[in-house]
Amino acid sequence: MQIITTKKELLAVVKACKQERKTIGLVPTMGALHEGHASLVKRAVAENNVCFVSVFVNPTQFNNKEDLEKYPRNINRDAELLSSIGADFVFAPTPEEMYSQEEMSTTFQFDFAGLDQVMEGKMRPGHFNGVVQVVSRLFYLVQPDKAYFGEKDFQQLAIIHHMVERSSMAGTFGKLQIIGCPIVREKSGLALSSRNERLSPEEKETALAISKTLFESLKWAKSASVAEVQQRVIDTINAVEGLEVEYYEIVDQTTLLPTNTFDHAIGCVTVYCGPVRLIDNIKY
Ligand code: PAF
Repeated sequence: MQIITTKKELLAVVKACKQERKTIGLVPTMGALHEGHASLVKRAVAENNVCFVSVFVNPTQFNNKEDLEKYPRNINRDAELLSSIGADFVFAPTPEEMYSQEEMSTTFQFDFAGLDQVMEGKMRPGHFNGVVQVVSRLFYLVQPDKAYFGEKDFQQLAIIHHMVERSSMAGTFGKLQIIGCPIVREKSGLALSSRNERLSPEEKETALAISKTLFESLKWAKSASVAEVQQRVIDTINAVEGLEVEYYEIVDQTTLLPTNTFDHAIGCVTVYCGPVRLIDNIKY
């Protein structure tokens, strides 16, 4: 496995792969890798001739400086994991290598047809502009045939699908396929997240109530309305000491707009567990 830190080197490697007509799979990450990322990488390795993984904590998608500073980083451990599961190239640039000074400070505005106006987009203004800024740059650089994203960040996945299939950028990325991969959970049900590293053992125990409540809500949905289930999820999680729901919304899986039927619906939750912001979701 080769670790690449400059765009120049990356472009040269990609050019060689393209000349050899190799298919390219890309897994964009911010590092602090766990089994959830590993499942994406294993799939990319299995479905393509070469697998690129980017490890880059993208400053332009953080609207909270403390969150950016505290985001866990461990490139040596990440490289060890990636090598053991067959990744071919790791692209790990510095922010200065990735962006010019101007790009770092400009707020890019993309049109997401409203997909960014709800849930995460509403709570973290500018977040998805930063995500698309870095993901589109990675697509230009790596020119993948397939790119893999986890369904835990369901809204992110919907926005990236939109960018590739329906936006003005659609032509640019050729036949690129966006592949969404299921959430990976601990045996306890807790959705794997790099942010879990910031939870104390007690907080980790407390956080179990999030997935437990979401799974319970599948049963509630059999005999209650969307509004009732939504409220019951919020109340149940908030009743646990140490947890505070930021939002729980049951929305249509395509439009991400509120829905009053469980058909094609997904419930997306963000919960503060102490200072750590956790997200999870469940399909009805
Ligand atoms: O999901 C993430 O880890 C990030 O948002 C991504 C897609 C790697 C872009 O920085």
